Amino acid sequence: MMTPPAPKTSAPAPTAAAGRATEGAATPSTERILKATNLHKRYRMGGEVLHILRGVDLAVHRGEWVAVLGASGSGKSTLLHLLAALDRPDAGDIEVAGVRLHRVGRARFDAYRSSMVGLVFQAYHLLPELTALENVLLAAMVRRSLPTWFGHRGAAKRRAIDLLERLGLGRRLRHRPNRLSGGERQRVAIARALMNQPAILLADEPTGNLDAHTGEQILDLFRELHRDGQTILMVTHDQHIARAADRRLELAEGHLNPLPPDDPGHSGTPPLRH
Ligand SMILES: Nc1ncnc2c1ncn2[C@@H]1O[C@H](COP(=O)(O)OP(=O)(O)O)[C@@H](O)[C@H]1O
Ligand SMILES: [Mg+2]
Repeated sequence: MMTPPAPKTSAPAPTAAAGRATEGAATPSTERILKATNLHKRYRMGGEVLHILRGVDLAVHRGEWVAVLGASGSGKSTLLHLLAALDRPDAGDIEVAGVRLHRVGRARFDAYRSSMVGLVFQAYHLLPELTALENVLLAAMVRRSLPTWFGHRGAAKRRAIDLLERLGLGRRLRHRPNRLSGGERQRVAIARALMNQPAILLADEPTGNLDAHTGEQILDLFRELHRDGQTILMVTHDQHIARAADRRLELAEGHLNPLPPDDPGHSGTPPLRH
């Protein structure tokens, strides 16, 4: 059962946004933490060009939880990959916490990827040969050179254990992924995404591989992170999950549009034809 302990009051809470959040912060601030302007993305396949994103604009405020809905194939993962700096747009700008992503050099680009954003995938993407603790620690390792890593290893390990304990995995630290349930794997992946205290947590259908009950537990975890002030951008095609967010957007025909609170969206419609 996932019953994460309540955040400690005597020590800094290990969630990403602790320290940044104002008291009891569930209310998003007006500060824009992420801003994407006129994003375009095309894929070339053989002789064909698929124009997937056709001028996407997006702004997310600090502490806000935004859900992105959209039919399968509409470009939701493509958008998240651009925001996570895993891929580059053909045109447009992305700014996170004041850093213009595609105007910085290679080193800062790598630093951005490892510390400004945390990414959670539908299929967890944990390294199978590493334990839960090592998978989380790896996130801290990749952002440091070897000599500086040795100086930070102790603190990083304490933080990784804190995070895993908070996510209800205190007794699973040395389990490899194949010894964990789907929900537990996703919690390890969330701990990894939070390890470097990202300005924004990006999640790509994080409950997509889970049964309804386990998905609900993961949703509760996102609710708790949101209460603690974590900024979240989540892709889902589950209306129930999207309704937990502060705001819902729909990606369709290459554009991102706001959905009113009671609009079911068109996520049930067939994928875009190319
Ligand atoms: N690397 C790629 N090369 C060619 N086409 C791609 C690539 N990645 C995604 N696509 C295509 O772009 C479209 C959008 O994909 P994706 O962003 O994964 O959609 P979603 O996450 O909304 O289901 C799909 O039609 C997919 O086949
Ligand atoms: Mg996808």
